[in-house]
Amino acid sequence: MHLFTPFEVRDVTARNRVMVSPMCQYSCEAGDGLATDWHRVHLGSRAVGGAGIVMTEATAVTPRGRISPQDLGVWSDAHAEALAPVAGFVADHGAVPGIQLAHAGRKASTRRPADGGDPIHGDDGWRPVGPTAEPWPHDDPLETERLSVDEVDALVDRWAAAAERAVDAGFEVLEIHAAHGYLLHEFCSPVTNDREDRYGGDFENRTRLLREVATAIREAVPDGVALFVRVSATDWLPDRESWTVDDSARLAADLAPLGVDLVDVSAGGIHPDQQVPETGPHYQVPYAERVADGGLPVGAVGKVTTPEGADAVVRNGRADLAVVGREHLRDPYFAIRAAEELGHDPPVPRQYTRGFQ
Ligand SMILES: Cc1cc2nc3c(=O)[nH]c(=O)nc-3n(C[C@H](O)[C@H](O)[C@H](O)COP(=O)(O)O)c2cc1C
Repeated sequence: MHLFTPFEVRDVTARNRVMVSPMCQYSCEAGDGLATDWHRVHLGSRAVGGAGIVMTEATAVTPRGRISPQDLGVWSDAHAEALAPVAGFVADHGAVPGIQLAHAGRKASTRRPADGGDPIHGDDGWRPVGPTAEPWPHDDPLETERLSVDEVDALVDRWAAAAERAVDAGFEVLEIHAAHGYLLHEFCSPVTNDREDRYGGDFENRTRLLREVATAIREAVPDGVALFVRVSATDWLPDRESWTVDDSARLAADLAPLGVDLVDVSAGGIHPDQQVPETGPHYQVPYAERVADGGLPVGAVGKVTTPEGADAVVRNGRADLAVVGREHLRDPYFAIRAAEELGHDPPVPRQYTRGFQ
């Protein structure tokens, strides 16, 4: 097994084990959540560049689930229509189109990083929702609206409807974003979940919403579609009651019988006091190894930047997918370069073969 061994799950076959990590582009021009030429070219380039799976950025399942007004969305049929050419182009060029389904929870309604990243007050913004009324800690916090049980239940349907639309648009892998301090992570972590109803309290209750979302999506989409879940393996808050790597392994075991196919293992994002360790190459791979104890395949992300390193992650059985983020911003052709350097046939589109003879 190595980086260019195809990855097979359900009806999906990825030509290699390089996945483009979800990365927000903040590029919906009118603030309407509709995919633009930018998404087509950006994601299309990474398919042309040889990746096995090309994952979209966090794509909001409801308008209030956007981080910024420029986020991508999939909350209506018009969104699916705008996304269909993205998925179609990616698939036509040999990669598996994946979409990350997301809700930003209490971290919603901020300006995009290029505009300062501050909370947006007034008509341009909206009130974030979450498991708690406590706002995301910030110099200038926006009030968070605490979701009622009925509203939480209604959100489960929104996730399922978004998943159905994504499949109609041509996506073959769906990834539930349950990481980085956004809505589903906020429910799972005791740092942000102070509820006393069936969605708060012990591990079982805090993870209930994520399990309900996974179950609803699995029921809503065909069996052949693959379902991934991205988690923050740890809150990086060792000095207080928080979400731990052991919790993530336990969660993986709970997700397996619900039809989840892979856990994409990231970390952090729930609180600004987090203690991020030294982040050298592959710093999150040990988390992926531990989460794999839960019995599901895993993806490892975090400073996987070289062909040899990505290959070693897979070859040494540390993870099933090498998930590559920022290196794909520097080099859209990372997978082609990796194949050449590692001695495999590079996944080159026919239009470019003259460049590789
Ligand atoms: C510009 C940018 C946008 C990101 N947006 C998302 C996102 O939409 N969803 C997500 O789960 N992670 C997001 N991330 C995190 C990456 O997917 C990845 O986990 C992180 O960058 C670490 O991997 P890397 O060292 O290969 O970049 C983003 C990272 C960057 C740099």
